[in-house]
Amino acid sequence: MALVLLLCAASLRCSAAVGLALSAAPGKLWSGGVSIAAEAAAVEARAEGEEEEECDLFDGEWVWNDSYPLYHSTDCPFLDVGFRCSENGRPDASYSKWRWRPSRCDLPRFDARNMLEKLRNKRVVFVGDSIGRNQWESLLCMLSVAVPDKSSIFEVNGNPITKHMGFLIFKFRDYNCTVEYYRSPFIVLQGRAPPGAPGVVKYTIRVDAMDWLSDRGQWRDADVLILNTGHWWNYEKTIRSGTYFQEGDAVKMDMTVGDAYKRSIQTLFGWLHNEVNSSKTHVIFRTYAPVHFRGGDWKTGGNCHLETHPDVTPVKSLEQWADFLNPVNDVLGNSFRPKLLGLDILNVTQMTAQRKDGHVSVHLSPSGPVPLYRQDCSHWCLPGVPDTWNELVYNLLLKRQSMIGQNVPLVGTKTLKAGWRKLNKYNLTI
Ligand SMILES: *[C@@H]1O[C@H](CO)[C@@H](O)[C@H](O)[C@H]1NC(C)=O
Ligand SMILES: *[C@@H]1O[C@H](CO)[C@@H](O)[C@H](O)[C@H]1NC(C)=O
Ligand SMILES: *[C@@H]1O[C@H](CO)[C@@H](O)[C@H](O)[C@H]1NC(C)=O
Ligand SMILES: *[C@@H]1O[C@H](CO)[C@@H](O)[C@H](O)[C@H]1NC(C)=O
Repeated sequence: MALVLLLCAASLRCSAAVGLALSAAPGKLWSGGVSIAAEAAAVEARAEGEEEEECDLFDGEWVWNDSYPLYHSTDCPFLDVGFRCSENGRPDASYSKWRWRPSRCDLPRFDARNMLEKLRNKRVVFVGDSIGRNQWESLLCMLSVAVPDKSSIFEVNGNPITKHMGFLIFKFRDYNCTVEYYRSPFIVLQGRAPPGAPGVVKYTIRVDAMDWLSDRGQWRDADVLILNTGHWWNYEKTIRSGTYFQEGDAVKMDMTVGDAYKRSIQTLFGWLHNEVNSSKTHVIFRTYAPVHFRGGDWKTGGNCHLETHPDVTPVKSLEQWADFLNPVNDVLGNSFRPKLLGLDILNVTQMTAQRKDGHVSVHLSPSGPVPLYRQDCSHWCLPGVPDTWNELVYNLLLKRQSMIGQNVPLVGTKTLKAGWRKLNKYNLTI
C-alpha cells in the first residue's frame, strides 16, 4: 500500500518516519503526537529509499486564532515585570492571538497537563541569554495553567523571579519536575583576563571551554536541555567593552567575534558529543531570534512601537542573520539534519522574523511607557511569540517520546550513518 512517509520535520531521528495512509486528511498528518509509526515501515522505507514527504514544522504561517493566548499574565506569578506588556499598558492584544500553522501538518494543541506528566521526575534546563529567559518564563506560565495551587510551584532556593543574574530553579511539586534557567549568554566560559594579558583586556571568553555553570548546574544530567546563544556575539558586548577571546592560556587579540562564535559552537558540539548521554538527554538548540529595530538599531533610534501586525509574507532570505545562523548550521546542523544524536534544532529564526509586532517596545514598566529611545525591540511580550517556540518544544518532546516508546531507533538515516561508529559511545540500540 502506498504510504506517505512523514519525516518529522524537526529532526533527523524522526526520519525513522511516520507511516500514514494517504487517505489521512491533509493538515492532520501529525496529530497529537500519536504517531502511527510502524518500525517496520520505517526500516523498509530506509531500505528501499522510498520517497519521503517531510512536514517541516518551521515552514508555515501565522494564523489568527481566538482561543489564544494560552494564559494571561495576570494569572502567572512567574513573569518578570518587563514582559508583562498588557499589564504595563500595551493597548492592543492582537500580538498574543497568532498561532503558528506549519504548511504541511498541524501542531497538536498545547496540553499543559500532558506535558507535565511527560516531565514527571524530570529536569528541564534552559541555558542562554535573556531571550532564553524570555522563553523559560513563557514555559513556566504555560505549564502552570494546569496547576491550580500556584504555591506548589516555587523557586527551590527561595529566590525571586526578578532580575536575578545566575540561575533559578522552579519546582512543580506535584510532578517532582524542575524547570531551570541558567544565564549563560555565551554558553562558553567568561572570566577575568589571565595574568600577563595586555592592559586593554579586562575579561576573556574562553572559546574552548564550557561555562563553569555547566558543572555547577549539572547541565549534562538534564532530561531536556534547551540552549540558545547569539545576541551577545557582537563587537559591542565583547571587544568594545574589553572582553577578548582566549584559547588555552593564550589571549587571541586578533580573533574576530565571528570566529570566536564559531569556535564556541564547536566547543558546545564537543561537549554534547563527549559528555551528554543522548539516550537520556533531549538537547534542543534554538536558533537566533531576530530583533526588529526599524530605522536604526537599539542605540540609534530604531523602533518597533508602532507595529501591531505580523509581516504577512515570510522573509525571503535569511541572509541578514547569516552570521548567527551559519556557524550553527555548519557545526550543529539544521532542523532537517542535526549532526548529533538526540539533538533537535528549534529553528525559530524565519517564523520569528515575521513577528515585529511581538516585542515589548515601550511597555516594559508598570509606571507607563518608557521614552521611545529606550524601547526594547529584542525581548518579547508574554504571553506572546516565545509561547509558540514552546509549543514546538512540546511537539519535539512528543515525537521523541513516541519514537522511544515504540523502540524506533533514535537515529537510523543515511546522514548520520557515516559518523555513527564514532558517536556510538553510549551504546545505543540501533
Ligand atoms: C485554534 O487553535 C487550536 C490549537 O491550538 C486548534 O485546535 C483550533 O482548530 C484553532 N482554531 C482555528 C479556528 O483555527
Ligand atoms: C524527583 O526527580 C529527581 C530527578 O529530577 C529524581 O532524582 C528523584 O528520584 C525524584 N523523586 C521522587 C520521589 O521520585
Ligand atoms: C545513558 O542513559 C540511559 C537512559 O537513561 C541509561 O540507561 C544509560 O545507562 C546511560 N549511559 C551512560 C553511559 O551513562
Ligand atoms: C529553518 O526553517 C526554514 C523554513 O523551513 C528553512 O528555510 C531553513 O533552512 C531552516 N534552517 C535551519 C537551520 O534548519
